[in-house]
Amino acid sequence: MEPKIIKTKDEMRAWSRSIRSQGKTIGLVPTMGYLHHGHLSLITQAQKHTHHVVVSIYVNPGQFAVTEDLSTYPTDFHGDIQKLKSIGGVDVVFNPHDLYDYGVNTTTTEDININNNNNNNRGETVSCLEGETRHETWVRVEGLEKGLCGKSRPVFFRGVATVVAKLLNIVEPDVAVFGKKDYQQWRVIQRMVRDLDFAVKVIGSELTREEDGLAMSSRNVHLSPQERDQALSISRALFEAKSAANKGEKIVGGLRRSVIESIEAAGGKIDYVEIVDQESLEAVEEIKNGVVVCVAAWFGKVRLIDNMEIDVL
Ligand code: PAF
Repeated sequence: MEPKIIKTKDEMRAWSRSIRSQGKTIGLVPTMGYLHHGHLSLITQAQKHTHHVVVSIYVNPGQFAVTEDLSTYPTDFHGDIQKLKSIGGVDVVFNPHDLYDYGVNTTTTEDININNNNNNNRGETVSCLEGETRHETWVRVEGLEKGLCGKSRPVFFRGVATVVAKLLNIVEPDVAVFGKKDYQQWRVIQRMVRDLDFAVKVIGSELTREEDGLAMSSRNVHLSPQERDQALSISRALFEAKSAANKGEKIVGGLRRSVIESIEAAGGKIDYVEIVDQESLEAVEEIKNGVVVCVAAWFGKVRLIDNMEIDVL
């Protein structure tokens, strides 16, 4: 089955409403395209829970700071459609071009860091449509967005929360599926949906790994063969941390240090390694049930994230 491609908000909303008027349910899988097996497993989850599935493909400028990789973010719309066609069961690809309208970007680092206490210069977002009426409404999940990735990417989560809020308003799905690889993103969206009473169920889908353990990500394509090899240190370190925790390791500092050392020894540059509560994402004092080890590290010019939930028996 070839998915129907919808490009405008009005057509998307009209499609969803006609489906819902027939008493059928809709699952949404938001993506930025360049689909891989990880995305396909999100789609399988959506298919399990709903009658119809919409995949959105939209590289959201609002979640990239000017210093980040928007211009090199990989895209392959035609390839994505072929992949979706071959797996089948996706009714619509929503590929909007009129989602954001920032106009000339006047957002300053100070605007963004006002609640973040974070004085780096990555605060400005990428401008989208110059000269048009500026988009000025943002959704922020003020606590959960601060730590982990929020420290080095202060505009990221407000961009994600805002675009996901827009997608939920336009597609009106019953269920929306997000990958747990982007653990903080998943928690931020769950909290936004709860706090703002969106009528949607958010499902977190398990992280998908390559056979050798590398967490699947659209950014992996930018790794050189050597960097890809080095990047395996992340999942190796995380599996070792899980096994140490299962054997009774309780000390956060020790576990954290060994993850950092393994990744650095392989040539990675650590952005953060944190052991936090799975829901609040706050640092924990000891390893216990319900924590997650979260990692962000650079290999060459590629920043990778990964995580491991630890549920000690
Ligand atoms: O995870 C992603 O691909 C993006 O952050 C999302 C959720 C599609 C929002 O742009």
